[in-house]
Order: sequence, then C-alpha cells, then structure tokens
Amino acid sequence: MANNDIPSLVAGPAGARRLVEDIAVSKIREVGNAGMGMDDIIALWYGEPDQPTPEFICQAAADSLARGETFYTENFGITPLREAIADYMTGLYQRPVEVERIAVTASGMSATNLMQQVLTDPGDNIIVTAPIWPNLIEAVRIMGGEPRFAWLRFGNQGWNLDLEALFAMVDGRTRAILINSPSNPTGWVMSHEDLQTVLDFCRQRGIWLLSDEVYARMTYEVPIAPSLIDLAEPEDRVVVVNSFSKSWCMTGWRLGWLTAPVSLMPTLEKMIEFHYSCPAHFSQVAGITAVRDGEEFVRETVARYRQARDLVIDRLQQMPRIRVHRPAGAFYAFFAVDGMTDSLAMCKDVLHQTKVGLAPGAAFGSEGEGYIRLCFASTLERLEVAMDRLEKVFS
Ligand SMILES: Cc1ncc(COP(=O)(O)O)c(C=O)c1O
Repeated sequence: MANNDIPSLVAGPAGARRLVEDIAVSKIREVGNAGMGMDDIIALWYGEPDQPTPEFICQAAADSLARGETFYTENFGITPLREAIADYMTGLYQRPVEVERIAVTASGMSATNLMQQVLTDPGDNIIVTAPIWPNLIEAVRIMGGEPRFAWLRFGNQGWNLDLEALFAMVDGRTRAILINSPSNPTGWVMSHEDLQTVLDFCRQRGIWLLSDEVYARMTYEVPIAPSLIDLAEPEDRVVVVNSFSKSWCMTGWRLGWLTAPVSLMPTLEKMIEFHYSCPAHFSQVAGITAVRDGEEFVRETVARYRQARDLVIDRLQQMPRIRVHRPAGAFYAFFAVDGMTDSLAMCKDVLHQTKVGLAPGAAFGSEGEGYIRLCFASTLERLEVAMDRLEKVFS
C-alpha cells in the first residue's frame, strides 16, 4: 500500500496529520468564543461547577508546595493517593478495589486519551453511547479509530438505550464499548441490569468495556450511580475512568484516575511515562484530602445541585417550545426546542439576545441536533435570572 493510502500519513495544509487538521473545533467552544468580551454573561455552557475548590483542599496543596513537593512522581501517582483512592472506592462499592489496579492520571481526559492510545489502531472502531461529550469521540478519531454511535432515544420516560441496537454495531474491528453514565449531556443513568448485560456481552466477544464514571457522585435518585466496579471481576477487560473535577470542584487541577486489570498495568505505566509522565505532585496531595475528607462537601454539593436541577427543570417545563426530562444524574438539562434545526446558530442567537451561554446539542453528535445543553452547577439566584431571560426566547 502506498503511503498516501494511509490517512494518518497524509499531511494537511498546515503540515500536521490530515486526520488531526480535519477534526472540527468544539461547537461548545465556538459559542464560548462568540461571547468573549461580553459583559453580564451567565455562562452555563461548560461542564464546570461555578464555585472554586474548597479551602481545605487548597490548603493541602499549599502545604505540599511549601514542603517543596515540586518534582516528578511515580507514573501511577504517589502511593498515599493511590491508597486513599483504593480505600475511597472500597468504601463506596460492594467489592474491594486493590491499590495495584489504580493509576492516578492528569485528568479524566488524559485517562481517556491514554486508553485510546492503548487500545485503538487506525481502522478499529469504538461503540459509544450517545449523545456524548465531544472530547470522548475525538479521542477515538485522533487515533484513526471510528466512533460508532449507539443513540439514546428521548421518550416519555426520559432517555433510553436500545442494547440490541448497540450490540448489532459490533464487528470484527470493534475494540471496545464506551459507556458514559451518568451521561454528559443527557443525565441518563444506566441500570445495574443493563451494565451487567453489556459486561456479559463484552466478555463473550472478548472486547473491552470502557466506563466513564466521572459523574458517579452526581446522582439525584440513588446515593451513587450503578458502577462496573460493583460488577466486574478484577481481571475483566474493564477500565473505569474517574475524575476529581466534578465531585470536588477541581476542574483546574487536572487530576483523575482509572481502575484497570492488574495485567494491563505495565502497559499503562509505560504509556503514562511517554504521555504526561505523572500528574503534578501538589495536585495529587490535594487529591488525598479530597477523597479522605471531602464526603460532607460532596453531600452538600449534590444537595445544592438537586435544588438547582429542580428549579431549572420546573422553569423549562413551563416554556411552550421546550421538552425536557428531569435528569437522574450529572448536572445538565438537555432539552429539545420545537422547530429548531440549527442548535449552534440558536445558541449564538440566545447569547446575543439574553447573554445566557448555552451549549448546542449538535456538539454531542449528529442526533444531538434539535437539543440544547444547560449546565445547572450554579447558584439558585443566577439560575433564576437565567430562566427569566430564557423565557423570553423559548415561550
Ligand atoms: C463525561 C466526561 N468525561 C470526562 C470529563 C473530563 O473531566 P476532566 O476535567 O477530569 O478531564 C468530562 C468533563 O466535562 C466529562 O463530561
């Protein structure tokens, strides 16, 4: 085969890999950029809590810096953090999680990229539950892989996944099924039964199951989202991705972790070295405090988001052009707008008319078109004002 027949070897106009040059800019960012420099914006476009990291976590990082902990650490992260995470997970779930299975990563996003680097060859495909956060899709494309979308459907009972349709997409080039539950953007939470069915299918077919559980703690109907940690055996081909970003308001610290089979760890260790080598030491020290002492903070935060969710959904449901379901998890309202055919144009329009920043549904895959995402991780006061402004557009 000539080099030109291999897509990843053909350069684009800027001389970079064509495949990478062809990747579109995130449509969420596009709306964000349109709002640059505008005053009085209520920004509900990004998936980010509106409050800074709590003081007790910041203090742990400040103490770490004062001790001079500014050097490289082990690829998998410092042992006290890996132990703290293993303890935390063992406390939350029904199975003990061994420290040997934990790799601390420089964010949930790094964990995802790492797993795509480890699993996906050009031409392989990954089946993803969708609508889905665009970064998870692009991580597949960057490797020359093909994301295949198993679409959640919006009905009277909320969002629903057709597992048979998902299984029908699997072929000889499928490397993994990627589930994101609780889901960004829909707030859908997969049941234990469905997780078990997918796990059984993956075992039978010998494919990997990647589970993005970064919103595991952000649940409103049950204390914690059903997890593959509860169901999988330690040597199953299952990798669970978590993050400090959402539960402890630590988006800027770039800290996450993954739980993987022990047999994969030497490969991961090698890949972490060549990827980002290790997360920042002082971020890791802050992470220890977060998982050890952060339970009360997580409980209070979820209670606050539950109120925010109810306020936003109650108000949206009164707007005639909008159809929306009360999400069971994560911190987004993902609503359908009657008659809307271009969610990106609509979000830019809403921004200019109301100064409320929203994310276009089209950013989350083609069938996200027709929807808009609103992040309700904000104060009730700000959300009330946002709803007053949106009412004028959507009534
Ligand atoms: C589903 C999902 N996975 C992963 C992440 C990444 O989180 P992190 O900040 O740890 O990279 C996000 C962030 O929005 C997300 O929504």
